[in-house]
Amino acid sequence: MFPHERVVVRRGPESGLPIIVAVHSTSRGPAIGGCRLKSYPDWRAGLSDALRLSAAMTDKCALAGLPHGGGKTVVVLPPDGAWSRPAAQPLHGDASRAAAQPPDGDASRAAALHDVGTTIAELAGAYATGPDVGTGPDDMAVIGERTEHVFCRPDRSGDSSPATAAGTVAALRALCEHRFGSPDLSRRSFAILGLGRVGGAIAGLLRDSRLVVSDLDESRRVPGAAWTSPEECLRADVDVLVPAALGGVLTAATVPTLRCAAIAGPANNQLDRDDTAALLYDRGIVFAPDAVVSAGGIIYATGIELRGRTPAEARADVEAIGDTLGRLLRAAAAQGLPPAEVARRMAATAA
Ligand code: PHE
Repeated sequence: MFPHERVVVRRGPESGLPIIVAVHSTSRGPAIGGCRLKSYPDWRAGLSDALRLSAAMTDKCALAGLPHGGGKTVVVLPPDGAWSRPAAQPLHGDASRAAAQPPDGDASRAAALHDVGTTIAELAGAYATGPDVGTGPDDMAVIGERTEHVFCRPDRSGDSSPATAAGTVAALRALCEHRFGSPDLSRRSFAILGLGRVGGAIAGLLRDSRLVVSDLDESRRVPGAAWTSPEECLRADVDVLVPAALGGVLTAATVPTLRCAAIAGPANNQLDRDDTAALLYDRGIVFAPDAVVSAGGIIYATGIELRGRTPAEARADVEAIGDTLGRLLRAAAAQGLPPAEVARRMAATAA
């Protein structure tokens, strides 16, 4: 069976870039999922990312009890990350003047975001987007010039990364209670892999703990935290590894090198494949499924923008991620199964 309800792959009419919108499921309600703007080797790699990430969003919404399904948008930037000149000149305005101007990163970015907005508008409410790797609230405002179906504009619920970080920390408390017998995070050590909007906020919330951190961007160093390369960070000798960058870091090759006792982070799709959960389980490493841990952003944004929650109520909803994870870890332990497998089954029943 083809698992996705609808997948749009098109060359953006304004940007010339490949624009991919994958709607995995709307069976619980309209699909939601962020807009990723990132370099890929080619558009096919962007498509496979969109397919996997949108399916993960379906599980994330189901496990968080949200009336939504999963979707994802990917804007495929060339491998070197450079913005290329738009393929076509604007239909309106002075084409000769436009042609004389050098390629402009901001204009190209706006063109790509407008292409995303146009594509989402054509889906007529089946899918709404939000920020993701490479995009933020200001970009959502630009998408919002073409469609209403976009979360986290600065004048709406705004930046969702503090909520995603708070949800991750709630999950870390539940995980530490389960694994070490106490939710007190100041007694624990963490390795945070990736210091973007969410990873950086988590580092701030964990400032009383012993931290090892890493990012490809050296300017993101955190005062008081040990700075390492991403490779060292992944196999740091800490209580908990917190993957907060791109997915796929847990593989048959990396699991044997890990020295942490548990893993919980906001990165989407941390396991390269489902079976890797069994490798972690066999090593006695407790893996908190990212579909549960990373739901803070969507819980907060949809609560404020669709369900009339006040910011305080929405923050309390985000904290409940800790209860959800605690229940899941206890159920998995009782059944003698990896938590990721139990989460997958729970999501499948709910989706
Ligand atoms: N990046 C968010 C996620 O993966 C996407 C998102 C945030 C979508 C907020 C809607 C609102 O969950």
